[in-house]
Amino acid sequence: MNKEGLRKLSYGVYLINTVNSGCVVNTLTQITNDKVIVSINKDNYTNKMLKENKKFNATVLTKETDMNIIQIFGFTSSKDNDKYKNFQIEKDSNNIPYIKAHMAALIECEVINKIDLDTHTIFIATVTNTKNLSDEEVMTYDYYHKVKNGVTPPKAPTYEKPKKGYRCPICGYIYEGENLPDDFVCPICGAPASIFEKID
Ligand SMILES: Cc1cc2nc3c(=O)[nH]c(=O)nc-3n(C[C@H](O)[C@H](O)[C@H](O)COP(=O)(O)O)c2cc1C
Repeated sequence: MNKEGLRKLSYGVYLINTVNSGCVVNTLTQITNDKVIVSINKDNYTNKMLKENKKFNATVLTKETDMNIIQIFGFTSSKDNDKYKNFQIEKDSNNIPYIKAHMAALIECEVINKIDLDTHTIFIATVTNTKNLSDEEVMTYDYYHKVKNGVTPPKAPTYEKPKKGYRCPICGYIYEGENLPDDFVCPICGAPASIFEKID
């Protein structure tokens, strides 16, 4: 199947925060007046925590959001570390943490149903409250890739395996191409070209 057309779909970039866990997603979508869905990989700790806790909040990233937040929330697991410890956090009305700085909005939700999709779970949730956090311009998925040089990790639903390239062993960033320049530096975590691993 030719999947090229899928690359033309547009998304935003969000943080899903729940009890003891949080991750970056691009799949949060409003589906009715007060309902949203989000697709979470079953290997992500946030999947387990959402099933257990049901309540979560989403924050909308802006163009000013620190890439370090995406690096930690999108490329490391809450199972291994407390992602919130390096950031100033606020608590929503359900006592769930969120990072306020350079976020456009806070959306509080409660899971009401879920659909099993093999690798991912689709969580269907009711929006219980929202709050405007700033008027900064929101970050689109396109902006994340083209302007911020962001990449998509294997567990994201939109991930496509690169044909040839080199993988950063620290954050998983993949450089697509036959030859990695010696002076290349990982745009996500700053690792040097010398430690990149070749993928065939
Ligand atoms: C731009 C971007 C979009 C992503 N979108 C999703 C998504 O929609 N669903 C998902 O399960 N993971 C997505 N991910 C991957 C998770 O954020 C990542 O696997 C994270 O490390 C999971 O953390 P956890 O184990 O603490 O839940 C995305 C990552 C990035 C950087």
